[in-house]
Amino acid sequence: MSSFFAEAIETLEALVWAVNHRCGSPIPDDEYDRLIASDEVNRVLRETRYTPPHRKRPGFPSREPGRFFSLGPNEEEHNPMTKIDHTFTGAHIIHGDVLKILPQFPDGLFGGIITDPPYASGALDQNAKQRATSVKYSSAKPDNALPDFEGDAKDQRSWTHWMTEWLAEARRACVPGAPICMFIDWRQLPSMTDALQWAGWIWRGVLAWDKTNCRPQRGRFRQQAEFVVWGSNGHMHADRKAPILPGVFRQSMPSVAVRKHQTEKPLEVMRDIVKIVEPGGIILDPFAGAGTTVEAARLEGYPAVGIELSAHYAKTARNRVTGASAAATGADTSAGC
Ligand SMILES: C[S@@+](CC[C@H](N)C(=O)[O-])C[C@H]1O[C@@H](n2cnc3c(N)ncnc32)[C@H](O)[C@@H]1O
Repeated sequence: MSSFFAEAIETLEALVWAVNHRCGSPIPDDEYDRLIASDEVNRVLRETRYTPPHRKRPGFPSREPGRFFSLGPNEEEHNPMTKIDHTFTGAHIIHGDVLKILPQFPDGLFGGIITDPPYASGALDQNAKQRATSVKYSSAKPDNALPDFEGDAKDQRSWTHWMTEWLAEARRACVPGAPICMFIDWRQLPSMTDALQWAGWIWRGVLAWDKTNCRPQRGRFRQQAEFVVWGSNGHMHADRKAPILPGVFRQSMPSVAVRKHQTEKPLEVMRDIVKIVEPGGIILDPFAGAGTTVEAARLEGYPAVGIELSAHYAKTARNRVTGASAAATGADTSAGC
């Protein structure tokens, strides 16, 4: 019975999509919304736990500019409906896969991308790369380690391909001239600059994050820095409303006592980096982790959206950006939670 319903919905969706996009006379939007978001369809989706193809889902009626991105009950069972369109002013974390979520945003929604993707690094050979992230990136005993995170075991070729795929989709969802900043280490730096340009972004430079302390190695240089590859979605106007920003950031990693993610970035550094986005632009972090970028953006007065695949970290990030810290500053995050 369940698969029958799932198939029926898929057929319905395909039909509606075909009418909407391929035929000369699209069905009216409200009719489309009614069909896809009806209680009956949503009930069946919940019962079958069926996720429609990522091009279309209930609550994601269009990629046209001005339409909204909306999280329905199927997407976020424990999270109320949230709409994200050009008027969004909150801070919000979406639990999901970047490749499934990104295509659902309308063109030109975001003012910039600030992110820290899984490096798929932290090892010298492919076997070592398959180890848990807690083993690769943490010296803590297994019982004390923070939970592992997703997407860190790809080899370099697959990683570059995957990066290109999401980077191209992210560019479509950004305004012309939008900046992008991505953290990376020395091993993956060349692949990241390849992927960025392959996806159509203009590569503009590399910033250095001096972590100040790291493991000493006799007879070798310390791997004391990580890097931020940055670029833009086409031409950047000289008169854009962003300050002069440093090219080197000197800040240690958050201490083990306060860290919520194995590879958490310092909030102070993120608060500087987000300022490359023009005021009012919605910042997207497609790899939110414990929510540091979204929290930094919120503290600097930007609307921001994070995507995170791990359920544990999506919850951590959501608590962080909509919880105690927001309450303490009296900030309004109501549009995003
Ligand atoms: C390097 S961490 C980000 C840490 C973050 N900057 C912080 O300060 O907490 C990268 C995150 O991307 C998430 N991730 C990996 N693959 C993903 C995917 N396909 N879609 C969304 N998130 C993903 C991982 O679970 C991980 O938490």
